[in-house]
Amino acid sequence: MNARKTLKINEKGHLEIGGADTVELAAQFGTPLYVFDEQHIRDMMRVYKRTIETEYSGNGMVLYASKAFSCMAMYSIAKSEGIGVDVVSGGELYTALKAGFPAQKVYMHGNNKLESELRYALDNKIGTIVVDSFSEADIIEKLAEERGVEQNVLIRINPGVEAHTHAYIQTARTDSKFGFSVSDGMAEKITAHVLGKKHLKLEGYHCHIGSQIFEKQSFVLAADKVMDFIAEVKGKLGFEAEVLNIGGGFGVWYNDEDPQLEVSDYADYLKTLIGAVIEKSSALGVKKPYLLIEPGRSIVGEAGITLYTVGAIKDIPGIRKYVAIDGGMFDNPRYALYQSKYTVLLANRAAEKCTERVSVSGKCCESGDLIAVDVPLPKAERGDIMAVLTTGAYNYSMASNYNRNFVPPAVLVKDGKADLIIKPQTYEDLVRNDIIPERLK
Ligand code: LLP
Repeated sequence: MNARKTLKINEKGHLEIGGADTVELAAQFGTPLYVFDEQHIRDMMRVYKRTIETEYSGNGMVLYASKAFSCMAMYSIAKSEGIGVDVVSGGELYTALKAGFPAQKVYMHGNNKLESELRYALDNKIGTIVVDSFSEADIIEKLAEERGVEQNVLIRINPGVEAHTHAYIQTARTDSKFGFSVSDGMAEKITAHVLGKKHLKLEGYHCHIGSQIFEKQSFVLAADKVMDFIAEVKGKLGFEAEVLNIGGGFGVWYNDEDPQLEVSDYADYLKTLIGAVIEKSSALGVKKPYLLIEPGRSIVGEAGITLYTVGAIKDIPGIRKYVAIDGGMFDNPRYALYQSKYTVLLANRAAEKCTERVSVSGKCCESGDLIAVDVPLPKAERGDIMAVLTTGAYNYSMASNYNRNFVPPAVLVKDGKADLIIKPQTYEDLVRNDIIPERLK
């Protein structure tokens, strides 16, 4: 179970999340179902916010990295907690604005933002855009000039830190589609390029070294290197950064191979990082930057679980037993993509001992459609409710309608009560945008 007491087993032997019985949730809303614990989300937003207040005199802001789980309710929660958000597409920005999120507190990322997305961002007076290419700087300059405004920007740089995580989610190596490397001089060149633009206000730098990282040292190293770069640019170009956005990346518990962190552990991560920034700024004689952090997974990951119903069971003698569920890679593609390991249990028999090892397969027409491989489980039967834990981040947001399956609905639980925050799809939704041209009729 996760460390933050979001989950427990009640007297009926059922799994509970945020005080709600998951078996009842499955009966009420059907499966597959994403379930989120609101308190957990708020606790995580608060711990980062509070740590910036206590350890850095409030000289910074938490941005929820909304790619982890983007829907209107999430932006409402972020708004009510007084934090900012990061968005990476016109779609995420639209969702945020539609939820009434203040545009000034939105930061836009992306290695290839479309001109239409940038136009939409400027038309809506977005707070800050994180520049990720020379041509993008030119486009923002043009759009800002046309509107007679000055656009706040940061530049995404690669400090060259390799975080210990899955190779696909390392993003700050020199060989990366993101950002500009410090080591090859490109970070300095883009700085000069942006400083030469009349309608861009360069506030500072952004870096993000990867995701699902537990090593404090990785964050410290990244902060050290970015601060060195800030000092170097101050010396060479006379530009002193006011803002440092250090990205996201704090890891969460998925299974027994991961540490179980308490809320206070995340405060420690941030405290260590802040300590490094403070130390470096005084050692290098540069101002303490306004500090932004962008956690996504750690805010919402352990807050979410997915409920499924067990269907077909296939025991291949001497080889493997497959327990199939009514979901799969269309609601959680992370095993298929990254071989991510999840903890799985039977929500209606949560107190029972595990007696066998099984692989949990989805319902897609694809052999690689698995959710978990060789995981312990009591002997499952058709109709059991299965819970997959820590699915709050990068599940719904990466879901698809593959095989024309429905992206599941989501509920938000608070004090035992559940509210629908994402409606179930219907067959009609699946054909909504389909057209049969006249000549095919
Ligand atoms: N900021 C930037 C610029 C990012 O690229 C990311 C994640 C974050 C913040 C948030 O990082 P977090 O705190 O969530 O680790 N789909 C992958 C994860 C991709 C992460 C991409 N960037 C997965 O399912 O593991």
